[in-house]
Amino acid sequence: MTDIRNIVILTGAGISAESGIDTFRDGGGLWEQHRVEDVATPEAFARDPDLVLRFYDMRREAIQQKEPNPAHEALARLDDIWPGELLIVTQNVDDLHERAGASRVLHMHGTHLNAWCTACDVRSPWRGTLIERPSCPACGESALRPDIVWFGEMPYEMERIYGALRNADLFVSVGTSGAVYPAAGFVRDANALRVRTLELNLEPSQGSGWFDEARHGPASELVPEWVDEVLIP
Ligand code: APR
Repeated sequence: MTDIRNIVILTGAGISAESGIDTFRDGGGLWEQHRVEDVATPEAFARDPDLVLRFYDMRREAIQQKEPNPAHEALARLDDIWPGELLIVTQNVDDLHERAGASRVLHMHGTHLNAWCTACDVRSPWRGTLIERPSCPACGESALRPDIVWFGEMPYEMERIYGALRNADLFVSVGTSGAVYPAAGFVRDANALRVRTLELNLEPSQGSGWFDEARHGPASELVPEWVDEVLIP
């Protein structure tokens, strides 16, 4: 792939599925176990903060027991040696990309391992729980919430993402259903920018038809194969 210099990779819950982290919309997924309206909106947090904080405390603890899988490791290998621009835009709030060794990672939906103070707006690294209303390390107020982008809230660093898409030669989407915007619209943005597009997913996503190429199977197989291809001089 000698004509490819700059790459944007979008990842979703499917890349962490083989690490034992539930996806959202697959059979038995999170949104079958919990109603989005109860745990993933600002209104839910205002209505029943205990329910919301307990939900994210449970998730935060769970992801710290999980390990990166070969898909995360392959992207970390690519990130380590790719000479051109590369940005891994993840919708995931786990830290498995970073634990695999990747550094060019952007969490557009936030991260479990931060707490966000609604009093002083500071985000602090956080591995424990929030249900007991601990004080903010920066201002001392008991006003911490999960640093997660809830439905109805604006994802992070959208300008940086669109800037990377404008410079890209290739857009790759891994393990996402294409159900949630604005991430689900990136493939159309890439099409409009005449950027080549590739889908790597267990099954066709909702936006599969918009990709130049789509490969279906487990990420732990598809991603290392694709990275090997890209790295062939
Ligand atoms: N390998 C590759 N793809 C997989 C695997 C796997 N092992 N397992 C599941 N998938 C695919 C599924 O086929 C599905 O298309 O991953 C996708 C997961 O889709 P969702 O559960 O909808 O997760 P995601 O697309 O990341 O959700 C987007 O929605 O709930 C919100 O903010 C949350 O970031 C999340 C956003």
